[in-house]
Amino acid sequence: MSEKVVAVVGATGAVGQEMIKTLEQRNFPVKELRLFASERSEGKKLKFKGSEIPVEVLKEDVFKKYRIEIALFSAGASTSKVFSPIAASSGTIVIDNSSAFRMDDDVPLVVPEVNPEDVKYHKGIIANPNCSTIQMLVALKPIYDYSRIKRIIVSTYQAVSGAGGMAIQELEDELKTYVNGGRETLLNFKPSKFPYPIALNVIPRIDIILNNLYSKEEMKIVNETRKILHDPDIKVSSTTVRVSVIKGHSEAVWIETETKVTQEKARELLSKAKGVKLMDDPFNDVYPTPLLHGHDTDDVYVGRIREDISTENGLVMWIVADNLRKGAALNAVQIAELLV
Ligand code: A2P
Repeated sequence: MSEKVVAVVGATGAVGQEMIKTLEQRNFPVKELRLFASERSEGKKLKFKGSEIPVEVLKEDVFKKYRIEIALFSAGASTSKVFSPIAASSGTIVIDNSSAFRMDDDVPLVVPEVNPEDVKYHKGIIANPNCSTIQMLVALKPIYDYSRIKRIIVSTYQAVSGAGGMAIQELEDELKTYVNGGRETLLNFKPSKFPYPIALNVIPRIDIILNNLYSKEEMKIVNETRKILHDPDIKVSSTTVRVSVIKGHSEAVWIETETKVTQEKARELLSKAKGVKLMDDPFNDVYPTPLLHGHDTDDVYVGRIREDISTENGLVMWIVADNLRKGAALNAVQIAELLV
């Protein structure tokens, strides 16, 4: 593998820092690493392989100036919209974690365990899917390949880290407020990342509400699933919920397949699947939880598999993954690995 000049854009953020860690842990062939963020981070340094790398302010000319070959972007959709096309026209391949280009026809949307071949049609920008979509599809693809899935219903339980580093801080501050002052004091806390305190709470809205009354996050799961599976006819419906968890997204997923897939067959398929760890012995409390399995883990954990008693060809399961790693940084680095 030839070594590459790599950049992380949004390096100081929750996902950006995870990207740096993942590049190091997976020993990605980095010739030189450049880190970018906003003016707020000027002067900061971040560690990579034992050395301290300065964080630079993102500017239009940096991609050409530093001959950056691969740039991992996680600085929000508005930054991506401005800087990704500039990077791509400078010869950099952008792997973009934002939602800015995911549904563009000439931008591949890739989960390496599901549709690795799609990276080939990129024109400079490859999109990393939404965190909830990634973990769901890693777990469902082996079943889909055995018997096409006609319909998916998913309820998510999403960690605050998906909303960025400030959201983690907000939850921690709220927890301290509750411990020191109880519920009434917590209710007087003025949150900035969420509409209500998220500590000891669940909030059934992630991203904005659209005209069809689904949230944008919910429609991302619908549309991205269709694109990644190349199946415009698959029926998907979701409810996305923010919960009082720092790291690790969980999902309750109901699927309907074209032919019967028994729970035993589903377990067999998932036990052999790449990137999946089966944890399914509910009588002995063996199932994944975000606190235990959604922190600094690479795999997508699946448990509570059972046949749906409400329909003929239905299965139900529980899926947990580290939203910052497989849901973001790891998936992006795996896409970069497909390129080299
Ligand atoms: P900064 O720390 O300088 O604000 P998170 O998702 O955790 O909120 O992090 C967002 C990341 O995106 C941070 O690294 C943040 O940098 C970066 N970022 C936000 N706006 C810009 C911008 N206009 N240009 C470059 N980086 C940005």
